Amino acid sequence: MPSALLQPLSPSRIKTLLLFLSLLFILYLVFHQPPPHPPLLQHLPLPTTRRHLLFSIASSAASWSRRKPYVRLWYSPDTTRAFVFLDKPIPDSNTAGDRSVPPVIVSGDTSRFPYTFRGGLRSAIRVARVVKEIVDRGEPDVRWFVFGDDDTILFVDNLVKTLSKYDHNQWFYVGSNSESYDQNVKYSFDMAFGGGGFAISHSLAKALANVFDSCLMRYAHLYGSDARIFSCLAELGVGLTHEPGFHQVDMRGNLLGLLSAHPLSPLVSLHHMETVESIFPNMNKTQALERFFIAVKVDPARICQQTICYDPSRSLSVSVAWGYAIQVFEGNELLPDLLSLQKTFMPWRRSGSIDATHYMFNTRDYPRDICKRPAVFFLESVASENNVMQSNYTRHNIENCPKTNKIDNLEKIRVFSEKLELDVDQVFLNRLCGL
Ligand SMILES: *[C@@H]1O[C@H](CO)[C@@H](O)[C@H](O)[C@H]1NC(C)=O
Ligand SMILES: *[C@@H]1O[C@H](CO)[C@@H](O)[C@H](O)[C@H]1NC(C)=O
Repeated sequence: MPSALLQPLSPSRIKTLLLFLSLLFILYLVFHQPPPHPPLLQHLPLPTTRRHLLFSIASSAASWSRRKPYVRLWYSPDTTRAFVFLDKPIPDSNTAGDRSVPPVIVSGDTSRFPYTFRGGLRSAIRVARVVKEIVDRGEPDVRWFVFGDDDTILFVDNLVKTLSKYDHNQWFYVGSNSESYDQNVKYSFDMAFGGGGFAISHSLAKALANVFDSCLMRYAHLYGSDARIFSCLAELGVGLTHEPGFHQVDMRGNLLGLLSAHPLSPLVSLHHMETVESIFPNMNKTQALERFFIAVKVDPARICQQTICYDPSRSLSVSVAWGYAIQVFEGNELLPDLLSLQKTFMPWRRSGSIDATHYMFNTRDYPRDICKRPAVFFLESVASENNVMQSNYTRHNIENCPKTNKIDNLEKIRVFSEKLELDVDQVFLNRLCGL
């Protein structure tokens, strides 16, 4: 007789077995503790703050003392982390007393790297290599490495807001190309132009630092530092994330057109402030930037953000670029027309070629006839109380239009606004106001 073990299972025994197995599975699910999250994921929800950004400023022994006033505008020793990279030590470079500027580092030797761009400066290699030297220092708790020149003016709170949209644990290269079409043709539409500043996420910066020295050997023929960094990032498969707040400012003359119709995106940087005209009339460039920063400090998110108000009873259109200037147009200007940039500025390259006069944004002519220009009012003063901002703007007349018009007597405009607190997800800001 065959033993019971060898008996084929009856359907009812199979059912019992299955029930038993599923009971075991349910008990496993009920009592099993999931493993804890890896520490990185637990840290993600904490917002990015100023302390998570580490700035590297490319300077030189020849230019540093002249450029210090630009850095002082945005650097604050207690909340900003930054280093200045010089080609060689200068006598007062590490006097610990001057806390108004960041500490200085002397760059490593780069004489072993080839540089073959005719007429260029081989300091481009040293400046490019800052991306590796800063990572190799192993500073703690850095989410973003930010790079700029000693004449890059940064708006730190706005940069924090901008970078908070991206996950620093992924690979990101954030910045902007040039305003000038022909500069982009020459270098690349997808390169972050170094003078405007750019940011590299912590994890990408690590990967870049590992390959940077060998990568530099392949790009001896390139002109600048930014083109080297762009090329090495391209080799890693990373393209530029364009953010409209960064400004290389490859243009000359009067920046009114640029600064009075900024995209509704926080202003992050301005460059070439030495080559353009003073941004406010009747004062030098440093004084003008200092006045601008009074507004930047009280409401950074709103600086230069454009709001358009219509006064139907007097048939006026008023375009406010908060903290900077107000323009009053006679008649009803259509809103889309006020978003394009008035060509108050001139091309970066003085070659006279057609390409040099093309920009990367919509423009409109700035009338030659002064009677056809809007009346312009520039920031005079700003004060804040309980998050309500009051800013005064006074009229600037270059020459008086001989014809009289209905706003001849308007000398001063006062603007009341609430402090602008943008959420990370908030991409929408109303452009219209009521008068
Ligand atoms: C700008 O003006 C201020 C105040 O008059 C003066 O101290 C400063 O040296 C001037 N700067 C330049 C670059 O001319
Ligand atoms: C703006 O101007 C008005 C009128 O002159 C004055 O009362 C007010 O204090 C000024 N506000 C600021 C912030 O300077």
